[in-house]
Amino acid sequence: MASANPGVLLAVEGLTVRFRREQESFHAVEGLDLTVRRGETVCLVGESGCGKTVTALSVMGLLPRPAAEIANGRIRFDGIDLAAGAADYPPGIRGRRLAMVFQEPLTSLNPVLSIGDQIAEGLSFHQGLCARRARERACELLAEVGLSRPEQRLSDYPHRLSGGERQRVMIAIALACGPELLIADEPTTALDVTVQAQILRLLRALKEKRDLSMLYITHDLGVVSRIAERVAVMYAGEGVETGPAEEILRRPLHPYSAALLDALPGRGKRGRRLAAVPGAVPHPAARPPGCAFHPRCPYAEPACRRERPALIPLPRARAVRCPVTAATLGGKDAGR
Ligand SMILES: Nc1ncnc2c1ncn2[C@@H]1O[C@H](COP(=O)(O)OP(=O)(O)OP(=O)(O)O)[C@@H](O)[C@H]1O
Ligand SMILES: [Mg+2]
Repeated sequence: MASANPGVLLAVEGLTVRFRREQESFHAVEGLDLTVRRGETVCLVGESGCGKTVTALSVMGLLPRPAAEIANGRIRFDGIDLAAGAADYPPGIRGRRLAMVFQEPLTSLNPVLSIGDQIAEGLSFHQGLCARRARERACELLAEVGLSRPEQRLSDYPHRLSGGERQRVMIAIALACGPELLIADEPTTALDVTVQAQILRLLRALKEKRDLSMLYITHDLGVVSRIAERVAVMYAGEGVETGPAEEILRRPLHPYSAALLDALPGRGKRGRRLAAVPGAVPHPAARPPGCAFHPRCPYAEPACRRERPALIPLPRARAVRCPVTAATLGGKDAGR
């Protein structure tokens, strides 16, 4: 429990998110546990459609309504319930103590407002700053995120900026009210590799300077070593492996984590590459019975097709949802 552990800033327990579409309903996220401690960066990793953004939107209280709802589980931020049944999202948290950088900077920025006004908006709203002070603060924030000539840039519109600059502006907006936790949803996906590296460096520096905690979402396990202390791997809406970043990179236990690692350029000596594993992430409405990964898994046993594996706790703060590989690391409860 978060309140029982003062080091825990974000505690997601058993999160299940249901979408309804006409006659159909499905769980885009199913029984997810996720913890972010103070001062820590956790990477949430998984291929497209695994439920990473739905998880982030759940934490932010921004799920699309009425299509989606939290069907089960709890989300607590510093011990405060963010998703407690039908209760409203508690005030004073989103945008202040908890902020998010979205996947698509161009669609998240308002095209008809200057970037200075967009940063100042949050400062006026949340902190009641007057226009002049908000503008000064916006300028300081642009400098902090490494935008050159910040004073001149305040009056620029988003279309005048490069992709990397837009993402820096998004980070400035997110940081405006001094959040304790920053959720960054694939902030570098649309950028070329050099700019990606710059944004990662910036986030790392900001984290140190501001003592931020961060939930960094990516499909690229290659980013993990550059930013994260811990990793949570998702597959088809479920958490399949968690643990310290260096342990998972050195020795991934879930066959899906291993496949993601093998798919990285310059790797692949570990055995079969993900590219060689047929299939794709199933849509949550068509999740196969048993282990959701079994149709793509080179190690699947007959039981994997029938029984849904539980998350098995392991030594060294690890856990894996695979009884086949857990046994190799002495899982406490490797049986089903
Ligand atoms: N508004 C929505 N309506 C219906 N289904 C949705 C909606 N948003 C997400 N989903 C479904 O929920 C699942 C998880 O989507 P999500 O956007 O969380 O994936 P993701 O891991 O963030 O993928 P990506 O890496 O592509 O961003 C997907 O199957 C997606 O189709
Ligand atoms: Mg996403």
